[in-house]
Amino acid sequence: MSILEFFVTIVILFILKFYYDYFIRSTPYPGPLPLPIIGNLHQYYYHSNDFLSWLHQLSSKYGDVFELYFGSCRYLMISDPRIVEKVMSPVKDSNYFVRVTAKDGLEELKKGNNGLLFNMDLNSWSYIRKFFKVIMTPNNLKLEILNNVFQDLERYWNCLIEKHGQFLIDEQEKSVEIDFVPWSRKFFAETMMLLTASKKLDLLSNHYNRIIKNFNNNHDSNEEFLDRIILASDCNITWTRNYACDLVKENRKIIESIDDKEELTIDILNMLLTANTSKDITRGISNDNNTPMTDEEIADNVVEILSEGIDSPANTLSFIVYYVGNNLDVEKLIIDEIERVFGHGSDFNITYEDLSKLEYIEAVIKEGNLLRKPITATISRFSEKSDQIDEYKIPSSTQLAINVMGLHMNPNYWENPKEFNPSRFLADNNKPEINKNAFMYFGGGLRMCPGKHLAMTQLKMLITLLYSKYKLQVITKEPSLQNNINTQCKELKIRINCRK
Ligand code: HEM
Repeated sequence: MSILEFFVTIVILFILKFYYDYFIRSTPYPGPLPLPIIGNLHQYYYHSNDFLSWLHQLSSKYGDVFELYFGSCRYLMISDPRIVEKVMSPVKDSNYFVRVTAKDGLEELKKGNNGLLFNMDLNSWSYIRKFFKVIMTPNNLKLEILNNVFQDLERYWNCLIEKHGQFLIDEQEKSVEIDFVPWSRKFFAETMMLLTASKKLDLLSNHYNRIIKNFNNNHDSNEEFLDRIILASDCNITWTRNYACDLVKENRKIIESIDDKEELTIDILNMLLTANTSKDITRGISNDNNTPMTDEEIADNVVEILSEGIDSPANTLSFIVYYVGNNLDVEKLIIDEIERVFGHGSDFNITYEDLSKLEYIEAVIKEGNLLRKPITATISRFSEKSDQIDEYKIPSSTQLAINVMGLHMNPNYWENPKEFNPSRFLADNNKPEINKNAFMYFGGGLRMCPGKHLAMTQLKMLITLLYSKYKLQVITKEPSLQNNINTQCKELKIRINCRK
């Protein structure tokens, strides 16, 4: 037998063994046939530009539970709300506490058990969640911060309109064309950095200067850090971690130089730094061994908070502006609600009580997310033990992926799911109740998004301020998208002018 024949025989035997194992696998579910070694990755890359539609097509073809192979790892893709209900259980000893176990990749990102997202240890995870609980209370989430950053945005937009605006035919007011996406990102990046580390970066003014003076000044390191985080394109994770470590060290020095802890600003970074120390400003958040966190642990948390807290709300807002701009009846209802809650005029101080009255705007935010999920296309959970959920057998040690668009676009749970109709989220006794397990806006159960309250507060406030002060006319026919680990709105051209 020649070397070539030997080689071909080995390959054929390998393929036969692969498909033998595949066809006798335990608990088979339908799904596209995988290839040896790569599984369904070739199809994934082929559809990576529109991963959401591909998942949607697959769930229409194979049903509410189907399997996909990423390399040799089998994923059960789930869009049956009965399974979601059990998997998203809020109990602490849930079989589905772990999100992912692909430890190698995560170690590379130096995540391990730091932070929340990839944390597999219930104790250290619970410890970090306590910080979010404290930070997200109205006392600590200061609306003035959002208000002040909006005032900056308003100043720059008004200058742009004044200096670069034109009178279009039939228009009484000057208007100017802008790309909304960078403004939205800079707004959320600035507020998140202020809320996290009380650090003002002047991102809006830098962006304005770049537009108006047409100068391509290089980003300073603060901007670069946030850009790398926002665009989720950071191949150089070491650079990002080092930046965050320097920020932590800087703040540690300030804390050491202060005698009275009452002088410390209550922000996320200071809380993480002082927990379990004599200058504790967390009012007693403790871990098992009452030890302070290391700089590296804190830096990982800071990177995670900023990476989760900027891109998702910024993206959500861009999609909302797009949908509202294409549904002027919705815009009118938004304005009506603003006038109902705040009266006429555009100078008002927003309070938490006001925000709780903005039911229609809340419905618009939810609807924007029903149609276009800006977070990852799937939400992961790992089954530690085997389980039976109604007719479905869930094998042990299996990676589950809740197929968010499979749920959101399912006509069994949503009437005309592709239509932008915020009213479906308004309370109405004559309408059937929404199946909460078919709506995965902030995920669910124990690991539901801890930034939910902050995100809703920011979005409601910003939508109120934007639509009360400006007319936002969408120019882009379809928002241009960038698909990497999530679907991002890359560009959204709009025309803005002041609302009189
Ligand atoms: C519109 C804005 C946002 C959306 C749509 C969103 C959505 C989500 C979703 C779907 C998850 C997964 C939940 C699950 O597995 O059940 C998640 C997790 C998470 N989010 Fe958000 N999020 C938003 C804003 C924020 C903000 C502002 C922060 C930080 C301040 C944040 C921090 C996190 C963290 C740390 C996790 C991991 C939680 C854990 O594993 O325990 N998110 N988010």
